Amino acid sequence: MEIIIQPSAQEVGIIAARMVAQIIRKKPYAVLGLPTGSTPLVMYKELIRMHREEKLDFSEVITFNLDEYVGISPEHPCSYNYYMYTNFFSSVNIKPHNINIPDGRARDIPKFCTEFERRIVEAGRIDLQILGIGADGHIGFNEPTSSLASRTRIKTLMPQTRQDNARFFPSLDEVPQHSLTMGIGTIMEAKQCLLMAAGEKKAEAIAKTVEGPITAIVPASALQFHQHTTVLIDEAAAGKLARREYYTKTFDEKPDWQHL
Ligand code: GLP
Repeated sequence: MEIIIQPSAQEVGIIAARMVAQIIRKKPYAVLGLPTGSTPLVMYKELIRMHREEKLDFSEVITFNLDEYVGISPEHPCSYNYYMYTNFFSSVNIKPHNINIPDGRARDIPKFCTEFERRIVEAGRIDLQILGIGADGHIGFNEPTSSLASRTRIKTLMPQTRQDNARFFPSLDEVPQHSLTMGIGTIMEAKQCLLMAAGEKKAEAIAKTVEGPITAIVPASALQFHQHTTVLIDEAAAGKLARREYYTKTFDEKPDWQHL
């Protein structure tokens, strides 16, 4: 794992956008795995700026979103579908048929999930999977005790996760109980992963992910098995890392050819 510590959430978002841009410039038909939540908002803004001012081209890019709530329509303002169009897709030149978001209203959920997995394989697999992290260490909506080999499926949300995400809904009662999420096994098949986190509330989960044992109780810890994962965090989220100085030194002394 590479650990990059930046002063604030702003720099985290800018660096994430540069990583995405680097991949798209090398491979215009890149396949991206995309997250939602507050953390990636700066990244999406910066990608929109790069599209407008630096001609970053999304016309051949294919995307797969990590997760979606079950039971709410794509037009619902709290759906991840709505989030993605409002914060990103409607401001860049991505083609609608290249966008894949789990359908929280699918009638036959197992069939939909199998088809979603098939589409990822058909697209040539995910080149860069971008991830946020929950305070309990979840990635996507893979809550603690999720199988580390899991595939796209329905998951029941933990009370803590519903509470954390209630800020996007009119009330806690309206936060769905279930979600569709790529599995940890699905995420692990991406060629590269980028886990982003900001703020003190994520410090514990980040320390366990990076320095703790690999365990289904901390789903993100599975990334220790991934051959190419970058953990991009701000100072506050790095607050509980025991080997912080080593990570900073490694990043500062990177050879030029490895720099972003
Ligand atoms: C939700 C999403 C996750 C996301 C997490 C953190 O639970 N399903 O994919 O990583 O929120 O979100 P935030 O960045 O808002 O803290």
